[in-house]
Amino acid sequence: MQRNPKILITGANGQLGQVLTKALRDRHGKSSVIASDINQTSDSDEHYLFLDILNTERIKETIDDHGITQIYHMAAILSASGEWNPSKTWNVNFNALLRILEIARDKKLDKLFFPSTIAVFGNTTPRTDTPQDVPLLPETIYGISKTTGELWCNYYFNKYGVDVRSVRYPGIISYQSIPSGGTTDYAVEIFHELLQHGKYECFLEKDTALPMMYIDDAIQATIQLMEAPKADIQTRIGYNLSAMSFTPATLFAEIQKYLPTAQIAYKPDFRQKIAESWSQSIDDSRARTEWGWAHQYDLERMVKTMLDNLSTQK
Ligand SMILES: NC(=O)c1ccc[n+]([C@@H]2O[C@H](COP(=O)([O-])OP(=O)(O)OC[C@H]3O[C@@H](n4cnc5c(N)ncnc54)[C@H](O)[C@@H]3O)[C@@H](O)[C@H]2O)c1
Repeated sequence: MQRNPKILITGANGQLGQVLTKALRDRHGKSSVIASDINQTSDSDEHYLFLDILNTERIKETIDDHGITQIYHMAAILSASGEWNPSKTWNVNFNALLRILEIARDKKLDKLFFPSTIAVFGNTTPRTDTPQDVPLLPETIYGISKTTGELWCNYYFNKYGVDVRSVRYPGIISYQSIPSGGTTDYAVEIFHELLQHGKYECFLEKDTALPMMYIDDAIQATIQLMEAPKADIQTRIGYNLSAMSFTPATLFAEIQKYLPTAQIAYKPDFRQKIAESWSQSIDDSRARTEWGWAHQYDLERMVKTMLDNLSTQK
């Protein structure tokens, strides 16, 4: 029988982790969700821990001390930052996952969530409507570490029965924090810059299409997958997940409907090459069929929601 969940979130101060922590606490109660990170929280949170995911012994102690039954393992170094220090990225993104998989097996945890990414795709992947099962040949160390992570999750499920579940998030758009270190960050930065300064210099070319998702959909998908009956989860590699796909020019045009004097310039940097190796759109029909995934936010609704929330924050 499933125990009442006692959840540990790693990387809880990140773009996804902050919102996920709140959503899980709303669902299960604050004391049932331990948030952890190597960044200190700004407010006092008695259920927050400093926890470096490279410190295996401390993770084990945390699980024992708090009676943890599930881990949402969000901590990682993202695609653009990863390129500055590949071996550190491999250590944080892959070696730490492997140790957490082993801990999940040893301590008989009920469930483990591993966030993967569209960065697992590479130049050999079909770029539009990318299917679930394709050869993965990622270009970045971030993509390499997440691809290998997916394979080990699948291995730990098949060999040891560890109930690990995973999705390949597209670029995540949220108003709660300003992300850094990712290739899709432009789609959040643009809102802040246009609202504050009326102009934005985009680090991708205007016609670079990428799959994207509003944060509420990403959190909904995560919790829905983790709560789905085990029999519905028919793959233990990352599920393709999709909501919308747009270019910087399309996003800017939609924002311009609300901010008609806004201006944009395009100055692509090294992230352009990374973006060009990823998919433009994703076929997520297996997630929709197998565990009922359905997105709520398209481009129009996402832009309006972002502007409404960021305008009231000012
Ligand atoms: N945001 C996106 O667009 C996106 C897209 C695809 C996949 N993902 C995946 O989702 C997960 C969460 O992403 P995010 O956007 O919230 O990332 P983020 O960079 O905003 O947050 C990651 C967090 O991990 C923490 N961290 C880094 N090294 C650590 C360590 N050694 N020990 C403990 N904590 C450490 C950081 O302090 C940070 O708070 C990641 O695994 C990422 O790969 C994110």
